[in-house]
Amino acid sequence: MKAIYTNKQLMQMLCQYARDILDSEGMKLQAGFVQHGAVSTYQHSVSVALCSMRLALRLGLEVDMRSMVRGALLHDYFLYDWHDPDVCPRFHGYTHPKTALENAERDFKLNDIERDIIIKHMFPLTPVPPRYAESMLVTVADKLCAARETLAVKIPTKFKLKQNHNGLY
Ligand SMILES: [Fe+2]
Ligand SMILES: [Fe+2]
Repeated sequence: MKAIYTNKQLMQMLCQYARDILDSEGMKLQAGFVQHGAVSTYQHSVSVALCSMRLALRLGLEVDMRSMVRGALLHDYFLYDWHDPDVCPRFHGYTHPKTALENAERDFKLNDIERDIIIKHMFPLTPVPPRYAESMLVTVADKLCAARETLAVKIPTKFKLKQNHNGLY
């Protein structure tokens, strides 16, 4: 029987794998940048990491959970406000994975899985497909979280579905 993890247990696992990333100056900056709707880039990155963990556990995939969590937390580590036209590059959607990877390489020691997660997370907008199961899961989780975060602002409260804290995001 598959183990069922609570949100709290998943958060504990996440903190254990990536305390240094969560406490970093870069992630503090991310907490001040809006990603989608009312959600900061920090919150978005944590949501993507948790969602990737849930997907892997639900699907019963054996993945390198530590690398997946660390890559997910750093996938949008581009460190600017993409809503600000003065600082956001013209083709942010295409260029931010490379910027995030450069920043992450500068601030942390990365392995191949973590690099692949960051540089490929916009697939299929960027055409090279993910190489590892971990990168594919983060790519899917990123889209699920982005859709939820964007729609949460646009759907009037009375039509919103109750969030299932034990299920997938
Ligand atoms: Fe991104
Ligand atoms: Fe993202």
